Amino acid sequence: MQIVILKDATEVAQYGANIFIEQIKNKANSVIGLATGSTPVALYQELIKKNQQDEVSFAEVSSFNLDEYLGLKGEHPQSYRHFMTEQLFNHINIVNSNTHVPPGDAVNPVLACNEYEEKIVQAGGIDVQLLGIGRNGHIGFNEPSSGLTSRTRVKTLTQATIDDNARFFAEDEYQPHLSITMGIGTILDSNKVVLLATGEGKADAIKDMVEGPLAAICPASALQLHRDAVIVIDEAAASKLS
Ligand code: F6R
Repeated sequence: MQIVILKDATEVAQYGANIFIEQIKNKANSVIGLATGSTPVALYQELIKKNQQDEVSFAEVSSFNLDEYLGLKGEHPQSYRHFMTEQLFNHINIVNSNTHVPPGDAVNPVLACNEYEEKIVQAGGIDVQLLGIGRNGHIGFNEPSSGLTSRTRVKTLTQATIDDNARFFAEDEYQPHLSITMGIGTILDSNKVVLLATGEGKADAIKDMVEGPLAAICPASALQLHRDAVIVIDEAAASKLS
């Protein structure tokens, strides 16, 4: 694991964005793995800016998102497909059919999970996977106790994650408790992983991931096994590292 500690969230986003920009400059048809949540938004704004300034082109890039709520159609305002459309895809020159998000409206979710795995393989595998981290150490929706070799599958969200994500839903709005998520094994297959975390609220999870034992109770600790994992964090998120 390479740990990069920067001053604040702006520097974290810029550092992370540069990794993706360099990747795409070196390989125009890169396959990138993407994440949702609050943390990657600033990185996406950086990618949008560089694309609009013609510094990087996504014309040949393919993308695979980590996860999606099971039970929400892509058009649903709280779906991760919708999030990606609004936060990134609509603002860069990526070809929509080259963007992949697990289908939250799959009639047969088990089949859809297997097909998602196959599509990643057919695309040649993921060159660089972007990750955030949950306060409980989850990556994607691989909650504590997830198998460290798991593949894309349906996962039940923990109450902690449901509570953390309730901020995105209106009070009387249906909030799914199930998801489709790439597995930890799927994530570990990526050539490179870049995990971003900012703020004091992530400090315990970062400590467990970096210094704790390799254990299913902290799914992100599986990244200790990855040959090219870059952990980009601000000083607040790094504050509990020894
Ligand atoms: C989202 C995802 C999640 C988030 C994590 C942190 O696609 O996979 O693992 O990265 O919940 O979310 P934020 O960035 O909102 O703190």
